Amino acid sequence: MRFSKRAAVAAAGIAVALVASGCGSSGGSSSGGGAKTKDVEVFTWWADGGEKAGLDGLVAQFKTDCSQYTFVNGAVAGGAGSNAKQVLASRLQQGDPPDTFQAHAGAELSDYINAGQVEDLSSEYKDWGLTTAFPKGLVDSLTVQGKIYSVPANIHRANVLWGNKKVLTTAGITAAPTSMTEFFTQLDTLKTKGIASPLALGKDWTQEMLFESVLISELGSDKFIGLWNGKTDWAGSDITSAINDYKKLLTYTNKDRDTFDWTDAEKLVMDGKAAYQLMGDWEAADLDTKGFKDYNYVAFPGNGTAYQWLADSFVLPKGAKNPDGTKCWLKTLGSSAGQKAFNTKKGSIPARTDAVASDYPAYQQTAIADWAKDTAVPSCPHGSACSQGWQGAVNSAQGKFSSDGNVDSLQKALTAAAKQFATK
Ligand code: BGC
Repeated sequence: MRFSKRAAVAAAGIAVALVASGCGSSGGSSSGGGAKTKDVEVFTWWADGGEKAGLDGLVAQFKTDCSQYTFVNGAVAGGAGSNAKQVLASRLQQGDPPDTFQAHAGAELSDYINAGQVEDLSSEYKDWGLTTAFPKGLVDSLTVQGKIYSVPANIHRANVLWGNKKVLTTAGITAAPTSMTEFFTQLDTLKTKGIASPLALGKDWTQEMLFESVLISELGSDKFIGLWNGKTDWAGSDITSAINDYKKLLTYTNKDRDTFDWTDAEKLVMDGKAAYQLMGDWEAADLDTKGFKDYNYVAFPGNGTAYQWLADSFVLPKGAKNPDGTKCWLKTLGSSAGQKAFNTKKGSIPARTDAVASDYPAYQQTAIADWAKDTAVPSCPHGSACSQGWQGAVNSAQGKFSSDGNVDSLQKALTAAAKQFATK
């Protein structure tokens, strides 16, 4: 999907020429002589299920607040942006940005800021009263050198274990596992009761999520945080032991995992072919949207009060065709009404601190309470902990480990990735 440097430069030149001559692809430039475009192209990877339901909720609010503009859905399907991020990178290289795009708060957002691809929104923050609307830690993760570049839509939690209640109770399992040891015992029980692959799993980034949950159990919150800021050594024996636990966990998972997106793994749980899946809390919204009610949820065994957070935020790209329309989108997104319209449907909790918990479904009510008291730890596959380059290196290391199971080589690859990317 990536362009060669030469082709990208040529493509960018063509795009600039087209925009300058008023021949842009979606209705003309807002600063050119032609009619202003009303379209606001919103680029996400929320194409189906609970993700689409969340987007639809927000779009309904946008239609009310910004009736002078037209929402254009630029979603590219694929969990965690596995396809969307590549398409976006090509478009940004070609000088053809959407009017706004989804970017994870933290290191991933910094990629776009450092590349000069997004506008400073500091003055809009003041105008819209957003400066104090979000938690300080989140605002810090959206800020670079004193400027703030995106509006957060939500806070998701990554380290949640989802279970099929019927499968669990049929196997005589009535309590949630609280440690890796208990988890392994339950997985053995499920196997004996005929569930061949009790832990549903998908491809690379979903494997990294499972592995990070094991790391949190093994290291605890502080040491886990240290993995991403250079303070914890990836070559340590505690990492080796986490990889060994993770390797053992893989023996309880479906063999076709490398071809599965998260929703394919989720279906194994819904169909009763698996008992558990580790996944972010977008799963709550997706199960609800699909009408599957018989599920439970708990923090991953041994994760204690670590709340592995990530946040979807939206930006104003440099060269957006309709910056005023984008600002209307961003203002709606950051408002109390926008956050409620979106998060009640998305499984996440609002980033704003003025939300009313009782407005939310049962899962989010527990998440709102946990977020207020737990320890925030970041996620690499969802950008709060690491850059896209680091994500790519980790994903390919996980993909390789999924087929060769070589503990030493996974640890070396993860150590090398941290060395290459940790300080960037
Ligand atoms: C996003 C969520 C999305 C999930 C699965 C995460 O990276 O932050 O909004 O639901 O990926 O696609």
